[in-house]
Amino acid sequence: MAYNGASVVDEIKNRCNIVDVIGRVVTLKKAGANYKGLCPFHNEKTPSFMVSEDKQIFNCFGCGTKGDVIEFVQKYYNLDFHGALEKLAAEYGIDISKSGFGDDSKRAALYELNREAAAFFYRNFTTKANPGYAYMAKRGIEPATMRKFGIGYAENDWNALRSHFEAKKADKQSLIALGLLSSSKGKEYDKFRDRVMFPIINTRGKVIGFGGRAIGDGTPKYLNSPESIVFQKKNNLYGLNLTRTDISKEDCAILVEGYMDVISLYQHGVRNVSASLGTALTENQAAMLRRYTNNVVLCYDADEAGQNAALRGMDILHKAGFRVKVFHVDDGKDPDEFIKKNGREAFLQLVKNALPFADYKISLLRKKLDLSTTEGNVTFLRKTAEVLRQLSPVEADVYIRRIAEEYRISEGALRREVEGGRTEEKPRRREEPAPAYEPEQAEKGSFRKEQGEKGPDRGEMMIQRNLIRLMLEKSSYVPLTEPYRDVFTDPACYRIFSLILSSYRPDRELDLLSLTDSLEPQDGALLQNICRTVRLAGRDQEIFKDCIRSMDEKKRSKREKEIITLLSVLDDEKDGEEMNQLTLELMELQKQKNKGGWKG
Ligand code: UTP
Ligand code: MN
Repeated sequence: MAYNGASVVDEIKNRCNIVDVIGRVVTLKKAGANYKGLCPFHNEKTPSFMVSEDKQIFNCFGCGTKGDVIEFVQKYYNLDFHGALEKLAAEYGIDISKSGFGDDSKRAALYELNREAAAFFYRNFTTKANPGYAYMAKRGIEPATMRKFGIGYAENDWNALRSHFEAKKADKQSLIALGLLSSSKGKEYDKFRDRVMFPIINTRGKVIGFGGRAIGDGTPKYLNSPESIVFQKKNNLYGLNLTRTDISKEDCAILVEGYMDVISLYQHGVRNVSASLGTALTENQAAMLRRYTNNVVLCYDADEAGQNAALRGMDILHKAGFRVKVFHVDDGKDPDEFIKKNGREAFLQLVKNALPFADYKISLLRKKLDLSTTEGNVTFLRKTAEVLRQLSPVEADVYIRRIAEEYRISEGALRREVEGGRTEEKPRRREEPAPAYEPEQAEKGSFRKEQGEKGPDRGEMMIQRNLIRLMLEKSSYVPLTEPYRDVFTDPACYRIFSLILSSYRPDRELDLLSLTDSLEPQDGALLQNICRTVRLAGRDQEIFKDCIRSMDEKKRSKREKEIITLLSVLDDEKDGEEMNQLTLELMELQKQKNKGGWKG
């Protein structure tokens, strides 16, 4: 007996040892309990790519790529999920033919029926006058676009498709399973009648289903193929078969709601686009997109439903690790109407001005709440803090300042709200008898008092706390942090860092309690406090990257100021050469600053 869909994945994970699979293409060396090598997904000279035999996962601390054996094969060989399963199954002699995953004969037969149906609809659409073509032409869709998307027409007839397939002696049950025919009292008839037909094609080029749009005001507006073994809505995105290369090239996907939005944007030259087809975006769809980009711009309809879909989609994408931005068109009800009326450039301008997801959520709050009342203000503060808690602490810090200023609310209050929430989630004094110790005291005790005028600012303090927390979470962050030791400007944090460094062993995690014991009580209490209050929420790699970015930025801006001072005191005549050098360096620094990247 072969495996069904779920167990074939387990079977492959059980039988294909990740160390073996990766070891064929990456030279791995044993490092403690793990294996280490040069990451195949980014350029590096010292290995930060780890493979765990125990957990059967890989993880690159340099570029953040991680996953299980199947994800490795997908990424390395640029395959989709099925492709990766097929490759591994073939190599390890696992029979997946009856699992619903292999290209077994049943699935192949269904694909073939769908393809035949699509060809039939396409002929109806292109070879004679018909209401479907007229309708699409009236909506401004050009013949080349219609061909590109394989658009067709289902005639206003109960038997057109049925007779076509009957002549070919096709299997009726399969046609019913695909939703092409319906049956009533033992008689089959065409399910799609008098509709424009949009074939849904997966990234392997197979027709998996259809959306059929009523011509004019018929109901339902769109009739879609039912779920079948070849069509799972939650696993597919419309248009991706055509647009994934553009998504990859632009390093950004624009997600819209409907078939017509995709087609219309595509025709206007906005080709990095796809649609989740009216349903809420799913984790699987997010995972699919991750193969092509980390950046998504959501452009859903401006109505209440569209806003809610955007909010849900954003959370899913954010969790999947995307940088998410959002906008709604401000003219017309959807992207199709907008671009028809205003053109490509105007649409791209909206994309460019799309709001990062935290800003979007906060702007919605702002619209819904009356900030002139105390109650509105309090709610705004609380809900804004909820949004900011989803960000990494370093990012949150930037937002806290900006939002306090922009909305004229108290920075301290907002900060307390954000940080208060972080501690609430982790019950205090549970696992270990933490010393009686309050965060306020920690701040006063360890850095406020000692820092004097020149002590670390808020952002720097956050970075130090985050790094300490990260090193305790995974000792592999210790060697990664060491080159940045200068960042520990707070004396207490520096003492903790020094202890961590001297206790570090590559093959062991650090032990919080023994570290605490080795510190002076004040420092020990600070360490405990950091571990209690800094939340990583499984986003340790992103947080670490944020810290690094932020430190690099600080370093650059320090150097920039230094150069500006130097230039003002040097003498043109005597120090000409040096001034040229410094000017070049300054230009380079400022260029990097402006490049800032996608995040703006
Ligand atoms: P919309 O109602 O926004 O339609 O539904 P639309 O895409 O703008 O279509 P046009 O421009 O009026 O032709 C968005 C998406 O929701 C799904 C479809 O995938 C549609 O593209 N939907 C909508 C359905 O599946 N069934 C429906 O009855 C309506
Ligand atoms: Mn529309």
